Amino acid sequence: MVDLYEAMSTLRAVRRLKPDPVPAEVLGRVLQAAAWAPTGGNVQPFRIVAVKQPALKQGLGDLYHAEWHEYSKGHIAAMPGMREAAREQMAKMLKAGDYLASHMAETPVILVFCFNPDYMAITDSGLGRPSIVGGGSVYTAVQNVMLACRAEGLGCVLTTLLCHKEQAVKELLDIPADWYTCAHVPIGYPVLKGHGPISRRPLDKLVYSDQWAQPFTE
Ligand SMILES: Cc1cc2nc3c(=O)[nH]c(=O)nc-3n(C[C@H](O)[C@H](O)[C@H](O)COP(=O)(O)O)c2cc1C
Repeated sequence: MVDLYEAMSTLRAVRRLKPDPVPAEVLGRVLQAAAWAPTGGNVQPFRIVAVKQPALKQGLGDLYHAEWHEYSKGHIAAMPGMREAAREQMAKMLKAGDYLASHMAETPVILVFCFNPDYMAITDSGLGRPSIVGGGSVYTAVQNVMLACRAEGLGCVLTTLLCHKEQAVKELLDIPADWYTCAHVPIGYPVLKGHGPISRRPLDKLVYSDQWAQPFTE
Protein backbone atom coordinates (compact mmCIF):
# COMPACT_ATOMS: atom_id res chain seq x y z
CA MET A 1 0.00 0.00 0.00
CA VAL A 2 1.18 3.50 -0.82
CA ASP A 3 2.93 5.33 2.03
CA LEU A 4 0.77 8.07 3.62
CA TYR A 5 3.15 10.93 2.77
CA GLU A 6 3.46 9.69 -0.79
CA ALA A 7 -0.32 9.48 -1.01
CA MET A 8 -0.74 13.07 0.22
CA SER A 9 1.95 14.44 -2.07
CA THR A 10 0.48 12.79 -5.17
CA LEU A 11 -3.21 13.33 -4.44
CA ARG A 12 -3.94 15.47 -7.45
CA ALA A 13 -7.33 16.06 -9.03
CA VAL A 14 -8.11 13.14 -11.33
CA ARG A 15 -10.90 14.18 -13.70
CA ARG A 16 -10.61 11.49 -16.37
CA LEU A 17 -12.29 8.42 -14.91
CA LYS A 18 -13.16 5.09 -16.51
CA PRO A 19 -16.74 3.79 -16.37
CA ASP A 20 -15.49 0.43 -15.00
CA PRO A 21 -17.30 -0.47 -11.78
CA VAL A 22 -15.66 -0.07 -8.39
CA PRO A 23 -15.88 -3.41 -6.53
CA ALA A 24 -18.23 -3.26 -3.54
CA GLU A 25 -15.50 -4.15 -1.03
CA VAL A 26 -13.25 -1.37 -2.37
CA LEU A 27 -16.05 1.20 -2.16
CA GLY A 28 -16.82 -0.09 1.33
CA ARG A 29 -13.24 0.61 2.47
CA VAL A 30 -13.30 4.08 0.91
CA LEU A 31 -16.56 4.91 2.70
CA GLN A 32 -15.26 3.51 5.98
CA ALA A 33 -12.43 6.03 5.71
CA ALA A 34 -15.06 8.79 5.62
CA ALA A 35 -16.68 7.42 8.77
CA TRP A 36 -13.31 7.58 10.59
CA ALA A 37 -13.00 11.33 10.05
CA PRO A 38 -12.99 13.64 13.07
CA THR A 39 -15.94 16.02 13.42
CA GLY A 40 -16.85 18.70 15.97
CA GLY A 41 -18.01 17.01 19.19
CA ASN A 42 -17.80 13.68 17.32
CA VAL A 43 -21.36 14.33 16.16
CA GLN A 44 -20.71 13.31 12.54
CA PRO A 45 -23.19 15.79 11.05
CA PHE A 46 -22.63 14.48 7.53
CA ARG A 47 -24.21 11.86 5.34
CA ILE A 48 -23.01 10.55 2.00
CA VAL A 49 -25.28 9.59 -0.86
CA ALA A 50 -23.34 7.15 -3.04
CA VAL A 51 -24.99 7.63 -6.42
CA LYS A 52 -24.66 4.64 -8.74
CA GLN A 53 -28.01 4.55 -10.59
CA PRO A 54 -27.44 5.64 -14.22
CA ALA A 55 -30.49 7.93 -14.38
CA LEU A 56 -29.46 9.76 -11.20
CA LYS A 57 -25.84 10.08 -12.34
CA GLN A 58 -27.14 11.45 -15.64
CA GLY A 59 -29.20 14.01 -13.74
CA LEU A 60 -26.15 15.11 -11.73
CA GLY A 61 -24.02 15.08 -14.88
CA ASP A 62 -26.42 17.32 -16.77
CA LEU A 63 -26.54 19.81 -13.90
CA TYR A 64 -22.76 19.71 -13.54
CA HIS A 65 -22.16 20.22 -17.25
CA ALA A 66 -24.10 23.49 -17.28
CA GLU A 67 -22.26 24.77 -14.19
CA TRP A 68 -18.85 23.79 -15.54
CA HIS A 69 -19.59 25.56 -18.82
CA GLU A 70 -20.29 28.82 -16.96
CA TYR A 71 -17.27 28.41 -14.67
CA SER A 72 -14.81 27.62 -17.45
CA LYS A 73 -15.96 30.63 -19.52
CA GLY A 74 -14.47 32.95 -16.88
CA HIS A 75 -11.14 31.13 -16.92
CA ILE A 76 -10.97 31.07 -20.72
CA ALA A 77 -11.53 34.83 -20.78
CA ALA A 78 -8.70 35.38 -18.26
CA MET A 79 -6.17 33.18 -20.06
CA PRO A 80 -4.70 35.73 -22.53
CA GLY A 81 -3.50 37.88 -19.59
CA MET A 82 -1.74 34.97 -17.87
CA ARG A 83 1.94 34.11 -17.89
CA GLU A 84 2.78 31.22 -20.19
CA ALA A 85 3.33 28.58 -17.53
CA ALA A 86 0.10 29.48 -15.73
CA ARG A 87 -1.78 29.59 -19.03
CA GLU A 88 -0.53 26.13 -19.95
CA GLN A 89 -1.52 24.77 -16.55
CA MET A 90 -4.96 26.36 -16.86
CA ALA A 91 -5.43 24.94 -20.36
CA LYS A 92 -4.62 21.45 -19.03
CA MET A 93 -7.02 21.84 -16.11
CA LEU A 94 -9.81 23.09 -18.38
CA LYS A 95 -9.32 20.19 -20.79
CA ALA A 96 -9.53 17.68 -17.96
CA GLY A 97 -12.49 19.58 -16.53
CA ASP A 98 -14.27 19.46 -19.89
CA TYR A 99 -13.71 15.72 -19.92
CA LEU A 100 -15.21 15.31 -16.47
CA ALA A 101 -18.16 17.54 -17.32
CA SER A 102 -18.92 15.46 -20.42
CA HIS A 103 -18.40 12.10 -18.68
CA MET A 104 -19.67 12.73 -15.15
CA ALA A 105 -22.67 10.45 -15.71
CA GLU A 106 -20.39 7.59 -16.80
CA THR A 107 -18.28 7.56 -13.64
CA PRO A 108 -19.19 4.49 -11.61
CA VAL A 109 -19.93 6.34 -8.36
CA ILE A 110 -20.57 9.93 -7.40
CA LEU A 111 -20.39 10.60 -3.67
CA VAL A 112 -22.63 13.47 -2.63
CA PHE A 113 -21.64 14.83 0.79
CA CYS A 114 -24.51 16.31 2.80
CA PHE A 115 -24.50 18.13 6.13
CA ASN A 116 -27.01 19.32 8.70
CA PRO A 117 -26.03 22.64 10.33
CA ASP A 118 -28.45 21.98 13.24
CA TYR A 119 -26.01 19.36 14.50
CA MET A 120 -22.92 21.55 14.18
CA ALA A 121 -21.36 23.90 16.73
CA ILE A 122 -20.40 26.57 14.25
CA THR A 123 -18.05 28.66 16.38
CA ASP A 124 -17.39 31.29 13.74
CA SER A 125 -20.99 32.12 12.87
CA GLY A 126 -22.12 35.72 13.27
CA LEU A 127 -18.63 37.20 12.94
CA GLY A 128 -19.52 39.30 9.91
CA ARG A 129 -17.37 37.20 7.63
CA PRO A 130 -18.03 33.96 5.74
CA SER A 131 -18.38 31.14 8.25
CA ILE A 132 -16.13 28.16 7.59
CA VAL A 133 -15.90 26.08 10.77
CA GLY A 134 -18.96 23.93 9.96
CA GLY A 135 -17.21 22.70 6.84
CA GLY A 136 -14.52 21.23 9.05
CA SER A 137 -16.98 18.56 10.13
CA VAL A 138 -17.51 17.38 6.57
CA TYR A 139 -14.36 18.07 4.58
CA THR A 140 -12.29 15.92 6.93
CA ALA A 141 -14.45 13.03 5.67
CA VAL A 142 -14.01 14.18 2.08
CA GLN A 143 -10.23 14.23 2.46
CA ASN A 144 -10.24 10.78 4.07
CA VAL A 145 -12.25 9.48 1.11
CA MET A 146 -9.80 10.98 -1.35
CA LEU A 147 -6.78 9.54 0.46
CA ALA A 148 -8.49 6.15 0.57
CA CYS A 149 -9.14 6.40 -3.18
CA ARG A 150 -5.45 7.17 -3.66
CA ALA A 151 -4.54 4.07 -1.64
CA GLU A 152 -6.96 1.94 -3.70
CA GLY A 153 -5.64 3.19 -7.06
CA LEU A 154 -8.90 5.04 -7.72
CA GLY A 155 -9.05 8.51 -9.17
CA CYS A 156 -11.33 11.20 -7.78
CA VAL A 157 -11.78 14.94 -7.53
CA LEU A 158 -13.51 17.11 -4.98
CA THR A 159 -16.08 19.22 -6.80
CA THR A 160 -18.36 21.92 -5.45
CA LEU A 161 -19.84 23.55 -8.55
CA LEU A 162 -23.07 21.60 -8.09
CA CYS A 163 -23.73 23.51 -4.86
CA HIS A 164 -25.05 26.24 -7.18
CA LYS A 165 -27.78 23.77 -8.08
CA GLU A 166 -28.39 22.51 -4.56
CA GLN A 167 -32.18 22.49 -4.71
CA ALA A 168 -32.21 20.48 -7.94
CA VAL A 169 -29.69 18.00 -6.47
CA LYS A 170 -31.78 17.67 -3.30
CA GLU A 171 -34.91 16.92 -5.32
CA LEU A 172 -33.10 14.41 -7.52
CA LEU A 173 -31.64 12.50 -4.56
CA ASP A 174 -34.56 12.96 -2.17
CA ILE A 175 -32.42 14.80 0.38
CA PRO A 176 -34.53 16.15 3.29
CA ALA A 177 -35.14 19.89 3.66
CA ASP A 178 -32.82 20.29 6.68
CA TRP A 179 -29.84 18.62 4.99
CA TYR A 180 -27.63 20.48 2.51
CA THR A 181 -24.86 19.57 0.08
CA CYS A 182 -21.22 20.65 0.09
CA ALA A 183 -19.17 18.28 -2.06
CA HIS A 184 -19.67 15.95 -4.98
CA VAL A 185 -16.85 13.47 -5.54
CA PRO A 186 -16.88 11.35 -8.69
CA ILE A 187 -14.82 8.19 -8.21
CA GLY A 188 -13.46 5.71 -10.72
CA TYR A 189 -10.32 4.08 -12.05
CA PRO A 190 -8.17 6.64 -13.89
CA VAL A 191 -8.11 6.73 -17.69
CA LEU A 192 -4.53 7.98 -17.73
CA LYS A 193 -1.86 7.82 -15.04
CA GLY A 194 -4.15 9.15 -12.35
CA HIS A 195 -2.42 10.51 -9.30
CA GLY A 196 1.00 12.10 -9.65
CA PRO A 197 3.08 15.17 -8.89
CA ILE A 198 1.28 18.23 -7.56
CA SER A 199 2.19 21.88 -7.65
CA ARG A 200 1.78 23.70 -4.33
CA ARG A 201 3.25 26.80 -2.65
CA PRO A 202 6.43 26.10 -0.68
CA LEU A 203 6.11 25.78 3.09
CA ASP A 204 7.74 29.15 3.82
CA LYS A 205 4.92 30.88 1.94
CA LEU A 206 2.29 29.13 4.05
CA VAL A 207 3.69 28.81 7.56
CA TYR A 208 4.94 31.50 9.97
CA SER A 209 6.76 31.27 13.28
CA ASP A 210 5.00 32.70 16.32
CA GLN A 211 3.60 35.79 14.64
CA TRP A 212 2.14 36.63 11.26
CA ALA A 213 4.72 36.89 8.48
CA GLN A 214 7.63 35.89 10.76
CA PRO A 215 9.69 33.41 8.74
CA PHE A 216 9.11 29.85 9.83
CA THR A 217 11.99 28.14 11.59
CA GLU A 218 11.94 24.45 12.39
C1 LIG B 1 -13.16 23.34 -2.18
C2 LIG B 1 -12.78 22.78 -3.54
C3 LIG B 1 -13.70 22.87 -4.57
C4 LIG B 1 -13.38 22.34 -5.83
N1 LIG B 1 -14.33 22.35 -6.83
C5 LIG B 1 -14.04 21.79 -8.03
C6 LIG B 1 -15.04 21.67 -9.04
O1 LIG B 1 -16.21 22.04 -8.84
N2 LIG B 1 -14.70 21.11 -10.22
C7 LIG B 1 -13.44 20.64 -10.46
O2 LIG B 1 -13.18 20.13 -11.56
N3 LIG B 1 -12.47 20.71 -9.52
C8 LIG B 1 -12.75 21.27 -8.31
N4 LIG B 1 -11.80 21.29 -7.32
C9 LIG B 1 -10.46 20.72 -7.58
C10 LIG B 1 -9.39 21.80 -7.63
O3 LIG B 1 -9.56 22.57 -8.78
C11 LIG B 1 -8.03 21.15 -7.56
O4 LIG B 1 -7.91 20.45 -6.35
C12 LIG B 1 -6.90 22.18 -7.63
O5 LIG B 1 -6.95 22.87 -8.84
C13 LIG B 1 -5.56 21.52 -7.46
O6 LIG B 1 -5.39 20.59 -8.50
P1 LIG B 1 -4.34 19.40 -8.33
O7 LIG B 1 -4.69 18.74 -7.05
O8 LIG B 1 -4.54 18.54 -9.54
O9 LIG B 1 -2.99 20.01 -8.27
C14 LIG B 1 -12.09 21.78 -6.06
C15 LIG B 1 -11.20 21.66 -4.99
C16 LIG B 1 -11.54 22.13 -3.74
C17 LIG B 1 -10.55 21.96 -2.61
